[in-house]
Amino acid sequence: MAGTLHDLGKIAIPSGLLSKAGNLNPVEFALIKTHPQVAYNILEPITLPGNTAKIILQHHERINGSGYPQGLKGEEILLEARILGVADVLEAMCSHRPYRASLGQAAALDELIRNKEILYDGAVVETCLKLYGKDLPAPLAETIPLPQVSPEDGPRAHKIFAQMRPWP
Ligand SMILES: [Fe+2]
Repeated sequence: MAGTLHDLGKIAIPSGLLSKAGNLNPVEFALIKTHPQVAYNILEPITLPGNTAKIILQHHERINGSGYPQGLKGEEILLEARILGVADVLEAMCSHRPYRASLGQAAALDELIRNKEILYDGAVVETCLKLYGKDLPAPLAETIPLPQVSPEDGPRAHKIFAQMRPWP
C-alpha cells in the first residue's frame, strides 16, 4: 500500500517542476521536498493498513540523517520506510524520466553499494542485492523488466545521478 501511494504528495507540486530538465534551484527543491508531508497530511486521517501514512512520510529519510522531511537517523526510520527508500531509488534510477533516460540497473545497484550504511540500511541493501544476484530464480529474473546500458554508460550514468542526489 505504501509503495503504491508513496509519491501521492506530488499532486501538490506543479507538473512542470516534476519534469524539469537540469538542476532544481533551492526554492524548487524545497517545494519538491514537501511531498512526503503532503501525502501524510492526506492519508493520516484515513484508516489504512499498518503504518502506511508514516512509512510514506519517511520514504526520503536516510540512515545518516541527511534525508527529509524530519532528518531522522538509523532505526528512528521505520524498517518499512528504509525498505521503501531503497526500492524507490532502484526504481527511479532504472526508469526513464521526462528529463533523462534510464540510468540502468548497474548504476542503480552501484549507488546502493556505495552508500550502504551511509544513506541506505545495510541489511535492506544486502537483501536487495541478493534479489538481483545469481540466487535469483531464472523465471523470476526474466519477469523483471530492466533497461540495459552499455558498459561505457555506467560511469557516466553514475556521475549524472550523483549530481542529482538527493532526488525527489
Ligand atoms: Fe518520493
